[in-house]
Amino acid sequence: MVGHGPAKSPHRERAVHGLHGVDGVVEALAGQRYVTDRSLATALYLSLALPKPLLLEGEAGVGKTEIAKALSAITGAPLIRLQCYEGLDIAHAVYEWDYSRQMLHIRMLEAQAGAGGTMDADDLFGPRFLVRRPLLQAIEATREMPPVLLIDELDRADDEFDAFLLELLSDWQVTIPELGTIKATVPPMVIITSNRTRELHDALKRRCLYHWIEYPTVQKELEIIAARIPDAPKPLSVQIATFVQALRKEDLWKVPGVAETLDWTAAMIALGIEELKNPIVLDTLGTLLKHQEDVVRVQRDLYPRLVGEVASGSDSRQ
Ligand SMILES: Nc1ncnc2c1ncn2[C@@H]1O[C@H](COP(=O)(O)OP(=O)(O)OP(=O)(O)O)[C@@H](O)[C@H]1O
Ligand SMILES: [Mg+2]
Repeated sequence: MVGHGPAKSPHRERAVHGLHGVDGVVEALAGQRYVTDRSLATALYLSLALPKPLLLEGEAGVGKTEIAKALSAITGAPLIRLQCYEGLDIAHAVYEWDYSRQMLHIRMLEAQAGAGGTMDADDLFGPRFLVRRPLLQAIEATREMPPVLLIDELDRADDEFDAFLLELLSDWQVTIPELGTIKATVPPMVIITSNRTRELHDALKRRCLYHWIEYPTVQKELEIIAARIPDAPKPLSVQIATFVQALRKEDLWKVPGVAETLDWTAAMIALGIEELKNPIVLDTLGTLLKHQEDVVRVQRDLYPRLVGEVASGSDSRQ
């Protein structure tokens, strides 16, 4: 039974033991160039050890999706991703029948029958005409190799989908009327992410461990830049991290996430810039800010103050 006392998987046991506790998770993620703090590493470790799905919420670009990829890399488990969107339904999340292949098959059978053969349409709704979507793929995975299942941006799906997922997370089984019930021998390692554009169902949250990923501190952001863009000169990274941190305190439509910090750093390197200064800052704001109102606000009002903060912040960090 999967519902009470989760089934054991040799692969997951090996993965959990191989990680050597919370410190081991921090270290293993660092090996994948993913910088994490102990609280997130603890949540991840517990989600593997208990096992329970891990629900990650946080602003855009703080590393929610990336952690599932890093988890797959450190455990050696394949990554199965369900990208959620408005209108996502069972046909795209779990399974559907391949109608065009079924039609072709019927025509072939008809032709055979016309030529004097017998017509046997029995396997028309058999496994070979089943299109397996991510949730079914995750259920069908073997005990030896349960995957990492990333259910990404669940808040984008309609809230009825939470109810469906709730059932799935409890039983790890789906019933296909034509085929019967398919049950997982062992549940996958599940990461659910949400940008919180709507609240997820309480009942669903109760099934999960929960962790909110904050924007990184300046120190952590510097570590992320160093991990992801090792070529970035340290003084430039310090200036960039300080500028972005100051920008996040402003009342903007959309403040930059870590992804934008990395884009901006890569842009500076591509332009051969070693020090933040005008006009390059104002010319490259489009890598950091994605609303014209924000760009204009920084250009018109905020720039002198932000640059002042960069100057004092950089002095104290170099
Ligand atoms: N802690 C981190 N260590 C290393 N890289 C990070 C970290 N956090 C974010 N990144 C990088 O920032 C980028 C954005 O991360 P990711 O796509 O996981 O964000 P997200 O939270 O899923 O954003 P969204 O809500 O927009 O989907 C990726 O390139 C990722 O590598
Ligand atoms: Mg994401």
